[in-house]
Amino acid sequence: MTRPYKKMIVLSGLAVFILLGILAARPPEEEKPVYKNLKVLSKKISDRDMDYVMESFGVQLGVNCLFCHPSTQIGYQFTIDYVTDKLENKRIARDMLRMTMQLNKKYFNIKLNRAMTTRGRIWCRTCHYGKPVPILPLPKSKI
Ligand code: HEC
Ligand code: HEC
Repeated sequence: MTRPYKKMIVLSGLAVFILLGILAARPPEEEKPVYKNLKVLSKKISDRDMDYVMESFGVQLGVNCLFCHPSTQIGYQFTIDYVTDKLENKRIARDMLRMTMQLNKKYFNIKLNRAMTTRGRIWCRTCHYGKPVPILPLPKSKI
C-alpha cells in the first residue's frame, strides 16, 4: 500500500532537484553595457545596433577596431580602450559620422536617428569603398 506513495515522494523530490539545477545553470540576466563617451550616437543605442554600427565602420573602411580604438597590454592581459578619444582616426570618424548624417538629411531628406535604427542612402562605403582613405584612380583625370 505504501509503496506507490513512496515512489511519488522520491519522484517529486527528483523533479525539484532537476528544476533547481536548471535554474542554477541559467546564465544571469545580461547586463546592458553603458557607453561612456558617445557624442554623436544616442546613449540609448541598443547593444545590437552599436555592434552593427561599429562593425560596419570596420568593413566599409577595410580596417579593424584597432584603427580607431587603441589597445593596451599589461603582462599577458590585452584590452582595447573603446572609451578614449586618443586616436585621431576615432575623432575623424566621429566628424565623418556627423557629415554623413547631414548629407542624408540635406540632400536625401532622410533623417538618421542617433540610435541607428534607420538606414541612410549615404554611408561610409559610398565614399570609402572598403578603404581607410577614399582613393579612386581616375583615368586621365582633370580634377
Ligand atoms: C573608423 C573608426 C572606428 C572603428 C573601425 C571602430 N570604431 Fe568604435 N567608435 C568609433 C567612434 C567615432 C565612436 C564614438 C561615437 C560617438 O561619439 O557617438 C566609437 C565608440 C565605440 C564604443 C563606445 C565606447 C564608449 O563607452 O563610449 C565601443 C564599445 C566601440 N566603439 C566598439 C568598437 C568595436 C568593437 C569595433 C570593431 C568591431 C569598433 N568600435 C570599430 C569609431 C570606430
Ligand atoms: C562624402 C564622402 C565621405 C563619406 C560619406 C565618409 N567619408 Fe571618411 N573620408 C572621406 C575623405 C575624402 C577622406 C580623406 C580626407 C583627407 O585626405 O584628409 C576621409 C577620411 C576618413 C578617415 C581618416 C583616414 C585616414 O587614415 O586618414 C576616417 C577615419 C574616416 N574617413 C571615417 C569615415 C567614417 C567612419 C564614415 C562613415 C560614418 C565616413 N568616413 C564617411 C570622405 C568620406
